[in-house]
Amino acid sequence: MPTQRADAPSQGSPLAPEWLSVPTDLNALEPKMWARDAARNDAGELTLDGISVSDLQRQYGTPLFVMSENDFRSRARAFSDAFNNAFADICGGVDVYYAGKSFLCTAVVRWVEEEGLRLDTASGGELAVAAKAGIPGADVALHGNNKSDGEIHRALDMNLGRIVVDSLGELVRVGDIAERRGEQAKVMLRLTPGVHAHTHEFIATAHEDQKFGLSMAADTTEQAGLSAAEEAVAAAAAHPGIELLGLHCHIGSQIFEPDGFALAAEKLLRFLAAMQEKYSIILPELDLGGGYGIAYIPVDTPRPAAEIAEAMAAVVRSTCAELGIDSPRISIEPGRAIVGSTTFTLYEAGTTKTVRVDAPDASNASDGGNNVTYPRRYVSVDGGMSDNARPVLYDADYSAILASRTSDAAPQLSRVVGKHCESGDIVVRDVYLPEDVAAGDLLAVPGTGAYCWALSSNYNYLARPGVVAVRDGSARLIVRGETEEDLLNRDMGV
Ligand code: LLP
Repeated sequence: MPTQRADAPSQGSPLAPEWLSVPTDLNALEPKMWARDAARNDAGELTLDGISVSDLQRQYGTPLFVMSENDFRSRARAFSDAFNNAFADICGGVDVYYAGKSFLCTAVVRWVEEEGLRLDTASGGELAVAAKAGIPGADVALHGNNKSDGEIHRALDMNLGRIVVDSLGELVRVGDIAERRGEQAKVMLRLTPGVHAHTHEFIATAHEDQKFGLSMAADTTEQAGLSAAEEAVAAAAAHPGIELLGLHCHIGSQIFEPDGFALAAEKLLRFLAAMQEKYSIILPELDLGGGYGIAYIPVDTPRPAAEIAEAMAAVVRSTCAELGIDSPRISIEPGRAIVGSTTFTLYEAGTTKTVRVDAPDASNASDGGNNVTYPRRYVSVDGGMSDNARPVLYDADYSAILASRTSDAAPQLSRVVGKHCESGDIVVRDVYLPEDVAAGDLLAVPGTGAYCWALSSNYNYLARPGVVAVRDGSARLIVRGETEEDLLNRDMGV
């Protein structure tokens, strides 16, 4: 039984995770976690390209996704430039497909196109957004491990530049549909190279036990020694409804180091050369997928795009030289690394509550058995797991700041929680906020551009927030927030 109470020591609360230190300035914005035009104005308020969060709240309400259009465009360009430079002498450049699953609406499709990128989609719905935005089908890819016939027809109607096929059964289905239409589907085959990234690291062991892709491991077909990948290459080359463009892989997400990407590239190039040797099949394209990580919390250290691109290019260059083959045209599919840091979520704080939690006495390291209690403050906001499911789904860590003002109050270990009927409804598990944060203050959570709006739900009949794009000092809704009417519209009332 804890017998004493202790206040959080200035070096940090014992309840905080190891990675979280007390910030020297609670009002500062850690640049790597924020859109490049986020700043505080003279009144201490968070602004994006000069627009204050209180203005945004007045005009659009909270919760609200606030996205910097210029930052999106410059990250898209930076990624494209980095890879194009690194691969220029190898294959003339790289085609960058923005992974729309991370965040998609018609405005974003237009930005992507204007910045010279292409678009990766993963469903008929995402294709509908692409079509509405008017991007040429030739610049669009379709993914998915379970495409419907309707989606395949839609892809062919739109003359898609590539359909990434996930299995032998699907290959035959795509080929047969295209043949019946008197067409050829442009196809990439998604392979599983046995490189599996675990967020900040990767394991180079077979990762066969998952739903995606064609295995490159021998003996993964009925025929002894034959891999599912090889079987599919031979079948694709023989099918009159298929134009086989090349190979694809995607090793995971939120990856910081280049090694996993490089190893996957090497494995696919070796396979590609073997297909060329054995069947005289030339595969002109190789897509190395997405997965490039971003900083959600101060200790996250993603590598600059140029560094990753150089490391990947070095492996492609040396592997092709060793194998004596020309490099295929390379493409990649970044989502999070382009959109993630462009956006913060703006919330209004409501109820707060401080609990006291047992922990070993931090002031008396030698006395291991003596527990005391330390405070943890819960700050509730007007959204939660419905606009950011990532903490619940993946134990994802985020950060937050007091956005509507600065404060000189002492740092207090806080947990930002939502308003849903679940105790797991956490937005930011651990963050130091000023102890005077109170109802009515605005909080901002950076890094919510990817897989937050995209994964949002109407749990507890909360309306999904809108998305505002800020550019050159003006703001506009690019996706409006839902209304109660939207929520009730689908209720048939019978
Ligand atoms: N290409 C393929 C084939 C993918 O499956 C994905 C993501 C990407 C590209 C883009 O990956 P990115 O560069 O954005 O990491 N909901 C999870 C992430 C799921 C990723 C699914 N596939 C999250 O919130 O962390």
